[in-house]
Amino acid sequence: MTDPRPTLRRPQGTTGTRILGVGSAQPDKIVTNDDLSQIMDTSDQWIRDRVGIIERRFAEKDELLVDFAVAAGTAALADAGVDPSEVDTVILPNCTMPSLIPNASAQVAARIGIPNPGAFDLNAACAGFCYGLGVASDLIKAGSSKKALVIGAEKLTDSVDPTDRANAIIFADGAGAAVVGAADEPGIGPVVWGSAGELVDLIYMRDHKYIYQEGQSVFRWATTQIAPIALQALAAAGLDPSDVDVLIPHQANLRIVEAIAKKLRAKGAREDMVVADDIKYSGNTSSASIPLALDHMRKAGTVKSGDLVLAVGFGAGLSYAGQAFVCP
Ligand SMILES: CC(C)(COP(=O)(O)OP(=O)(O)OC[C@H]1O[C@@H](n2cnc3c(N)ncnc32)[C@H](O)[C@@H]1OP(=O)(O)O)[C@@H](O)C(=O)NCCC(=O)NCCS
Repeated sequence: MTDPRPTLRRPQGTTGTRILGVGSAQPDKIVTNDDLSQIMDTSDQWIRDRVGIIERRFAEKDELLVDFAVAAGTAALADAGVDPSEVDTVILPNCTMPSLIPNASAQVAARIGIPNPGAFDLNAACAGFCYGLGVASDLIKAGSSKKALVIGAEKLTDSVDPTDRANAIIFADGAGAAVVGAADEPGIGPVVWGSAGELVDLIYMRDHKYIYQEGQSVFRWATTQIAPIALQALAAAGLDPSDVDVLIPHQANLRIVEAIAKKLRAKGAREDMVVADDIKYSGNTSSASIPLALDHMRKAGTVKSGDLVLAVGFGAGLSYAGQAFVCP
């Protein structure tokens, strides 16, 4: 006897997804290390040596996280040649939206002209973009979304004590975005993600006040724990370290970026693998740093369409995530 209960239709998803276009936005105001040394006890040499930053961008008071998100999202759609009306999902990784309600994603979508998408913010701090890209890709594979816009956006200067020389020299503002859609061939590998909640006290921002971090402990964690995650993300996509054309770790500190690259090269990544160093001119922009770096590198020609990119994000939580993808 056949079961009379209704059966749900099989998901109308896809086997493959890819990034269709990217875009970014930053404040106009450039702040050099010398500018900072006028207002705190630091120096250009110290910052270059310890962190690798040469200059960063700070938003003005009236420039908001949502403004950068709108600009980056609009640029990514133009780059992809996708009309806003085609987007049904907006994911906005961030950790510095000044209000918990309303979130950023719905208002950003409306300002871009995306009609009534599913929209949510996602907080995985500096791992946020890789989390968001993973969710977008899997929603499309599952048939829940056709085209998604992932926008990492931050205004970290609102969350940093401007006199705290350990943090004020590192963090900066900006947004980066990617449009994700279906593809015949896989163009985004599975996300490999995780967390280390027992280390919650290493980076925190309580009651929407200022960021505090145990710099040295975070440094040690990132330089030892993150390269293995990147390798797992490669393996999950059926790739070897030698396949990687471009490595984009979260731009936290140039020494962390270089340590991750060194560990991957010890496992077979090529010497000519391009390693993102966007932190030099953008600072640490948390959820925005990976798509910002990708967009800047594409525009500079250091990353080309079809290149195999390996991204890995890590930060407060502690949380981390990475995946391989094909550059649009
Ligand atoms: C924050 C960070 C740059 C500090 O560098 P560090 O080499 O660990 O420096 P320390 O905290 O050990 O401090 C060393 C000295 O430099 C001083 N110092 C700290 N910030 C300084 C600054 N901006 N300029 C000059 N001196 C500074 C400290 O006061 C300390 O002085 P002391 O030895 O007289 O006590 C580094 O730990 C770091 O980048 N950690 C990772 C942080 C990160 O990436 N966070 C984001 C994750 S998403």
